[in-house]
Amino acid sequence: MTNHKNSLHWWQRAVVYQIYPRSFKDTNADGIGDLNGVIARLDYLNDGTPNSLGVEAIWLSPFYPSPMVDFGYDIADYCDIDPLFGDLATFDRLVSEAHRRGIKLIIDWVPNHTSDQHRWFVESRSSRDNPKRDWYIWRDPNPDGSLPNNWGSVFGGPAWTFDPGSGQYYLHQFVKEQPELNWRNPELRAAMFETLRFWLKRGVDGFRMDVIGMILKDKELRDNPLNPNANPNLPANDLFGRLQTTYNMDQDEVHSAIREIRAVLDEYDERCGIGELWGELPRWVRYYGELGDELQLPFNFRLMREPWQASAMRRSVDELEAALPSFAWPNYVLGNHDQPRLASRFGGQSQARVAAMLLLTLRGTPTLYYGDELSLENGQIPPEKVQDPQGKNLGHERTRDVTRTPMQWDASPQAGFSQVEPWLPLSADFTSRNVETQSQKPDSLLNLYKKLIWLRGETPALYGGDYLALDIGVADCYVYQRRTATQTRLVALNFSAEERQLELAGSWKILISTHLDRQEKFSTGSFVLRPHEGLILAPEQ
Ligand code: NOJ
Repeated sequence: MTNHKNSLHWWQRAVVYQIYPRSFKDTNADGIGDLNGVIARLDYLNDGTPNSLGVEAIWLSPFYPSPMVDFGYDIADYCDIDPLFGDLATFDRLVSEAHRRGIKLIIDWVPNHTSDQHRWFVESRSSRDNPKRDWYIWRDPNPDGSLPNNWGSVFGGPAWTFDPGSGQYYLHQFVKEQPELNWRNPELRAAMFETLRFWLKRGVDGFRMDVIGMILKDKELRDNPLNPNANPNLPANDLFGRLQTTYNMDQDEVHSAIREIRAVLDEYDERCGIGELWGELPRWVRYYGELGDELQLPFNFRLMREPWQASAMRRSVDELEAALPSFAWPNYVLGNHDQPRLASRFGGQSQARVAAMLLLTLRGTPTLYYGDELSLENGQIPPEKVQDPQGKNLGHERTRDVTRTPMQWDASPQAGFSQVEPWLPLSADFTSRNVETQSQKPDSLLNLYKKLIWLRGETPALYGGDYLALDIGVADCYVYQRRTATQTRLVALNFSAEERQLELAGSWKILISTHLDRQEKFSTGSFVLRPHEGLILAPEQ
């Protein structure tokens, strides 16, 4: 592996920042964020100085025309912008304003399903012999009148809905307003590739591909086996959760489709494919492609699933490092728009600081979810305010709204997010937890993020070096080296609420502590990690 910044690709070097556009910044006083809002906040993300976060890529969740049943993951037109968010001219301005600041733009692409309002589906459902009938997955009822198979929807209920007009069922593994596309149809494939080119020509640098491992299903659509490990307390309508995913995702045939998608990206310079992919390591790793010819970054969500324990995190990282072929570049995600907030999941504000250092010092591309740099916690969403179809159908406690509350910019009445009441309630802590307040507080989490991102960006060992975990024999601590031929950095993380003592040979200097209050030097001997403290150390010459 190479250690020179210039010989790494941008998607290896950058910290990716995910923006959920509805919740980032509203500039037209409708309570919903928009593309102008993203442009207005680009300097916050990277103005070229350490006063800004310093991220070099943003990923925008969907902004396409949509009935918003799944808040934009139900796309009615792949080649336009919903008026809620702006228009194509605003998008073009976003591309150039981002690029002017050295920020790459990654957009969401949802290839598994469209909205039922997409003109393709309107045509497809119009009659059995419509030319687009086969662009979606239609099946007759079984001879006894039952559903074509036993699959369930992720959002509750069966994965099939009957269309009385044409007398068949269509498949949807999310809400019934998200009919699934038939990737076995060559015309559909070609049409989807054109949607990629539409954005590539506009200067988009990459795509985050929604549930990409699902786009091909078993040819015979066989029943999935029951999942013996399913939680016995699932709501009665959670049919999806009761089954294994043997026939509805991760089919071998998906890989050739992904290679074709990658070939479209490769028609242009330096474009990156990121995939939303779950599954066990040996299957997951195949999405890089046997020859590195599939996705540059299959999202790695494993750390999000781990308990807050040094040994669990280390095991997860070591297993990933061991599983990757030499050409494959790692990546880490600690939060996104589908999971509870990082600070709530890992225990609280103290854990959030150590998590920041972990995310930004491992080998591989980090993805940071908007608001995690302030350590926003799960929002309080009263049952009558739930918007998310998952929360509406599977129970209030499953709503993803908690992680999509408005960005907290300042202490003004709507947190600087909007002039009017936002589409989801603001978290009560916005008067103290916001960008303006944290910018002024030298030891805030926001300032820790800024310092870590800038330090990473200027330190070859951190952005490009090897990773080596050290067996230091101290409980609750995770210590690793990042190293190029000419530079070594040591990262020491204390996952516990107690002090820990570590022994180190040689002379070292603390570059940064998660508490932002410590920069001493020391020579061979022991040093103390305070409760919930992480340090980055450099050898002293
Ligand atoms: C995964 C996305 O991240 C999620 O938000 C969405 O609801 C489903 N895919 C369906 O598109």
